[in-house]
Formats: sequence, C-alpha cells, structure tokens
Amino acid sequence: MEQKLKELAQEALSKVASAQDLKELNDIRVSYLGKKGPITEVLRGMGKLSAEERPKIGALANQVRAEIAEQIEKKQKQLEEAAIEKQLKEEAIDVTLPGRPVKNGNAHPLTKIIEEIEDLFISMGYQVAEGQEVETDYYNFEALNLPKDHPARDMQDSFYITEEILLRTHTSPIQARTMEKHKGKGPVKIICPGKVYRRDNDDATHSHQFTQIEGLVVDENIRMSDLKGTLEVFAKRFFGEDREIRLRPSFFPFTEPSVEMDISCKICHGKGCSVCKGTGWIEILGAGMVHPNVLEMAGFDSKKYTGFAFGMGPERIAMLKYGIDDIRHFYTNDIRFLKQFSIHES
Ligand code: DAH
Repeated sequence: MEQKLKELAQEALSKVASAQDLKELNDIRVSYLGKKGPITEVLRGMGKLSAEERPKIGALANQVRAEIAEQIEKKQKQLEEAAIEKQLKEEAIDVTLPGRPVKNGNAHPLTKIIEEIEDLFISMGYQVAEGQEVETDYYNFEALNLPKDHPARDMQDSFYITEEILLRTHTSPIQARTMEKHKGKGPVKIICPGKVYRRDNDDATHSHQFTQIEGLVVDENIRMSDLKGTLEVFAKRFFGEDREIRLRPSFFPFTEPSVEMDISCKICHGKGCSVCKGTGWIEILGAGMVHPNVLEMAGFDSKKYTGFAFGMGPERIAMLKYGIDDIRHFYTNDIRFLKQFSIHES
C-alpha cells in the first residue's frame, strides 16, 4: 500500500507539473484528491490494515494528499499569472502607431469672407441686420427711390413671384426696413449680409443667386468724408495697407451723389496689367450718400439726418482676394476647391 501511495504521488505530481492550463489542473485535482479518487480509496481500505500499519499508511496518505494539494496550488498560481500575462500581451495597445487623422470640415469661403467683413464692421460699431429673401416690390424698389417704370429697374432683372412680390435683387431693402424700425431716430449703423437673386444667365462672372453685404449709417452730420474714410479702412484692412482707393462718380437711384469704389491693383500697383485690364484699378463696390427721398420715405427728417450706404458682393471680393477665376466655384461644392480654404491653410 505504501508503494502504491508513493507511485500515486509521483504520477500525480508529474501530471501537475506538466499541466498546460487551469482546466487540466482542475481535472487532476478532481481525479486524485476527489471523493472518488485513488487516495480516498486507499484511506477507505485502511480498515483492512493491521493496527501498526494503519497510522503509518494514514500519515503517508495525508502527506501525499497535502503534497499534491500544495503542488496543485503552486501550479495554479503559475498558470493564473501566465494567463494574465498572456491577456495583457494580447490586449496591449501599440501607442507608437501613428493615429488616424480625423477629417475636419471647414467654413465655406463665402461664409468666411462674410464673417470677416462683418467682424471688421462690428469692430467699428456696426450691428448686423437681416432681411428677407422674398421681398415686396415696395421695399426692393419703391422705398429705394425706384418707382414703378423707373428705367433703373432694368439694371436688376428680377424674379417676380406675383406683381408685388419678388426675390430680392439686392440687400438694399434692409436699409428701408431698418430705418422704419428706428422710427425717424438716429443713429443707424448696420451691416447686412444676405442672398440675392437676379435673372442672369450663369457664367464665369454671373450667377442667378449670389450674396451681397449692405452697409448703412444714418445720423446727424454724416458726410461724404465719413463714407470715404470708412471705405478706406475697409479696403486697407481687407486687401492690405499698401492698397489705395479711389471713388468714381456713378449712379444709383437710392444715393445722391453715388460713387463706385476701386482699389489699386495688387499685381501692378496702379501701372496697369491683365488683372486690372490695364487700368491699374479694380472695381469693388457701389456707395453714396443716402438719397433724401429714401430717408423721408422711411420716416427720417432729411434736413436733420444724413447718411451713407454701400453695397458689395462677397463673391467678387473673395475672387479678388484669393485669385478665383470663376464665380461658379462657390456654388458647385467641389471638395478640392473648398478644402483650400481650410482654417489650417489660411
Ligand atoms: N444695391 C446696389 C446693387 O445691387 C449696390 C449698392 C450701391 C448698394 C450703392 C448701396 C449703395 O447701398 O449705396 O447694385
């Protein structure tokens, strides 16, 4: 019996030593130390032993069982540690791998230009006003000194919805609407960006829908020199301190006198080149002193109040600023075009 126990011990210990995983180890534990295992069986059969042998074999059986249990426990710890180690290795994150870049969107170049222009005027004390794209004939034309059948209406071929309602052809109606809200009391100092619509055939320089920014200042003692100074600040801040401006006489029914503002050509600085078509100047916007009729119709006393107004096209300004040669690029949303105006690149 003693021999048998020793053999059992050896056999069990060698199995424990070579166990590959926790399951196998548990099977060994059950088969050697369990109730139906060989050691229990030996102990059960002890009744048949002589009185001298019994304590000896009993002690040996207990020792073998303790020895096997101890080795199983040791092996279990080893296997558990190895399992954790393996898991850690498998789940390890390689922090040296380069990250996957996240694609960022960016503001549309027109939005950017409009916001830059807004910011500049806000810094000079202007407020941003908005109007409506579906406008009445009254605000789009009549309140701006363009009565029905006025020939200047032809300058802006319009999309009429009914006889009296149309898609606004310019942002100037916001002038009349804002002045009415002020109920004859100055100062008014606004900048108004928005979409406008004209019955033009689309080509490199025309679009049936485009954007404008309107400016209006009404107060006591507003003079032409205020307009000129304001436009000069705008031109230099926006296009560069080295740019000159000039005002040319022009005509708009809602301003008197009316002017068009040019800036000196960036390429040739006034000498004349292909960009400025040999003139040395590039046309930027229309402006003038608010016509007394426009002030009066909107409820302002034109003897007390004067004002200036200007209107510009952000597309044209963006085209000049960034050297874009076709207005349609703004509307066709080619990602290769739009990406060039990402904040990371400008
Ligand atoms: N509304 C004019 C246009 O669309 C632009 C313009 C010219 C606006 C002179 C003004 C201005 O406020 O004073 O052609």
